[in-house]
Amino acid sequence: MGKLRMGIIGAGGIAQDRHIPAFLKLANDVTVVAVCDVNETTAKAAAEKFNIEKIYTNYRDLFHDVDAVTICTPNKFHAEITIAALSAGVHVLCEKPMAMNTDECKAMIEARDMSGKVLSIAYHYRFMKDSQAAKNVIFENEIGTPIVARVQALRRRKVPGWGVFTNKELQGGGSLIDYGCHFLDLSLWLLGSPKPVEVVGKTYNKLSKMPNQVNEWGSFNHETFDVDDHVTAFVRFDNGATMLFETSWSANIKEDVERLSISGETGGIDLFPFELNQAKHGMLFNSQATYIGGEDNPGLPQAQNFIDACLGRDELIVKPEEALEVSRIIDGIYKSSETGQSIKFEVSGK
Ligand SMILES: NC(=O)c1ccc[n+]([C@@H]2O[C@H](COP(=O)([O-])OP(=O)(O)OC[C@H]3O[C@@H](n4cnc5c(N)ncnc54)[C@H](O)[C@@H]3O)[C@@H](O)[C@H]2O)c1
Repeated sequence: MGKLRMGIIGAGGIAQDRHIPAFLKLANDVTVVAVCDVNETTAKAAAEKFNIEKIYTNYRDLFHDVDAVTICTPNKFHAEITIAALSAGVHVLCEKPMAMNTDECKAMIEARDMSGKVLSIAYHYRFMKDSQAAKNVIFENEIGTPIVARVQALRRRKVPGWGVFTNKELQGGGSLIDYGCHFLDLSLWLLGSPKPVEVVGKTYNKLSKMPNQVNEWGSFNHETFDVDDHVTAFVRFDNGATMLFETSWSANIKEDVERLSISGETGGIDLFPFELNQAKHGMLFNSQATYIGGEDNPGLPQAQNFIDACLGRDELIVKPEEALEVSRIIDGIYKSSETGQSIKFEVSGK
């Protein structure tokens, strides 16, 4: 098979910062042939900047030019465009979160099954060197069976003030669905992909509703801000593991924290940065990693894995069935917060 012809749908921030540069670097395998954005000026700007030949404003017109697309639109359009692309016989790498809710994720997986094409979700935290190191040491049984995950993904006063991140209609939620989702995905992967059986959670949007908020990442309209800015949750899994989870865009804390730790039966790992914590030979051991070679640019191995899967050379690392479980937990947290109840899931596989 020749080179994979790649199209970009949604040519804003993440497409220009991560996806297009990554695919251009993989020029032996891919040609970026077309870019689509409902905003023609954005499509033209991206095409000029990256020397992409074709421009579209309707994604359906792009499908006949390409073998694969990456979808970088607001969350509301992920499911619709993914299903249309797969139905047109086009492989899809869709930005995170997979969709607005679990039902949409299921429909996307059905479309994948019908098409026989590849569908992956851009949970790029998995491709960071620290995450890969953690996965490898867990696989090598350095911590025994993972039992507890603890997540703190907290930004101090950094609500994204650009794009549509504070718009529930277009994004489905705020800090949880946008930022916390990465840490849910990474935790599930490191725990060995258990199924969530119960979620208790609470979401807040008090701070962002107040006028004149101090915010480092641009400004937002507190009157139209209708998404969560703080979230806490507890998740129970079918294999007995549990997760303590907290995320925020606008925490009143000293500095940003990105912490994910997994405790296993015989040891634990801490991210970020990676540390392996063990107890053996009557001693406590703490090991750090020194990585050999290249920068830590998760966009590149993410793009490479997607292409390898499309070309039948490798297995996908981020499977849509796994991303669906992330969405299930997100739905559960929103529902639990709304109802004040714990939310239980039937473990049925789908
Ligand atoms: N992986 C990450 O860490 C990460 C980081 C940022 C954003 N994202 C995700 O990427 C997606 C886009 O975010 P962004 O920051 O690039 O937003 P953005 O607003 O900068 O870009 C989105 C683009 O999509 C275009 N668009 C909207 N509807 C469209 C449609 N129907 N067809 C074609 N184009 C359409 C908009 O005109 C805009 O140019 C979101 O799902 C977001 O969650 C992921």
